[in-house]
Amino acid sequence: MTIGIVIVAAGRGERAGAPEEGPKQYRPIGGRPVIARTLECFLSWPRSGPVVVVTHPDDDGLFAAATAGIANVERVVTTAGGDTRQRSVFEGLRVLSGTDATHVMIHDAARPFCDHALLDRVADALAAGEDGALPLMPVTDTLKRGSAEGLVHETVPRAGLYSAQTPQGFHLASIRAAHEKAAALRRGDFTDDASIAEWAGLAVRMVEGSPDNIKLTLKRDIDLADEKLSRRALPDVRTGNGYDVHQLEPGDGVTLCGVFIPHDQTLKGHSDADVALHALTDALLATCGAGDIGDHFPPSDMQWKGAPSKIFLEHAAKIVREHGGTIMNADVSLIAEAPKIGPHRQAMRENLAAILGISLDRCSVKATTNEKIGFVGRREGIAAIATATVVYRGESR
Ligand code: CTP
Ligand code: MG
Repeated sequence: MTIGIVIVAAGRGERAGAPEEGPKQYRPIGGRPVIARTLECFLSWPRSGPVVVVTHPDDDGLFAAATAGIANVERVVTTAGGDTRQRSVFEGLRVLSGTDATHVMIHDAARPFCDHALLDRVADALAAGEDGALPLMPVTDTLKRGSAEGLVHETVPRAGLYSAQTPQGFHLASIRAAHEKAAALRRGDFTDDASIAEWAGLAVRMVEGSPDNIKLTLKRDIDLADEKLSRRALPDVRTGNGYDVHQLEPGDGVTLCGVFIPHDQTLKGHSDADVALHALTDALLATCGAGDIGDHFPPSDMQWKGAPSKIFLEHAAKIVREHGGTIMNADVSLIAEAPKIGPHRQAMRENLAAILGISLDRCSVKATTNEKIGFVGRREGIAAIATATVVYRGESR
């Protein structure tokens, strides 16, 4: 047997609200899109055959972005869904019928907490020759039937009642025939595939569902899932370092951490030669693998001549934020024989805090001489070392 997979992801998620955040299957939980987690579960399952994902035509860009970099994603075929779940599944089954699949497991993209043990239980039932297999969870709440007048009418005994999950497994040709029959008779009101199978007279075996395998339906479900995964994850803390040196020549002063200090020398360089901000720019870029200052501001580019280095640091901070980073602290050590840095440290820290948009206590500037040895000791240049810590959204992986 070959088990093909159909994942339906063409819904609009109206009950999840917040349309500006996009369809629920593309929203991040624990830093990764819902559909990426769902798809990974199937792509990493050794028993899965061809995989068809049914998407909405408006979501091509979202799908590509959400699934970039997933192992084996090149195995996935996508097709456009319809305006009901039933139609979307039907389209997925049509595409899957063109492959070597003999069986199918149909799954909601909005159920990212499926696991291999659950998939195995469904597959084992199919391997045992069942027409269909449905994962179920026994209902635990006491069930009531209400009246139109808002009164409790009766208590429904919950023995023998279950809620249905996905993936639902079937013999491919049988479920496709059942879907075709429903479409021909204009029965478009089925909310899952087991109900179509039952209606068509197929036997559906009950298998044990998973309590974690919930369908994300309301915004609250997505928020809770996000919280659960974020708690479980290790915080994504990253540290970057940077180093820079500029040569000194006769002049009227130096700019360090954006503060101009009158002096009988000046720093040579293309921009204002602020070694401290250059080192810190590199440290920030390093936390998200974004290269170094030269990659973003090539010295060959005339527009940076004499430029205040503040713009380099602002740019690096913007890149960090775009990667989902929050800057936790910035620390700069200046190595200079002269001028004296001490009287300017506070102003320097204030500059860093303003440029990075973080509080003053997260910004540190320190200075040391080089004990009159080496190029710094001979007042031939000034060096700076910087360290930055950034916490990124989502889990470390
Ligand atoms: N689905 C689909 N095509 C549709 C409707 C639903 O492929 N026309 C998919 C959804 O993307 C989801 C699964 O079927 O993965 C379960 O449906 P549901 O939870 O109802 O999702 P939505 O229809 O998107 O949400 P809502 O009903 O709140 O609008
Ligand atoms: Mg729906």
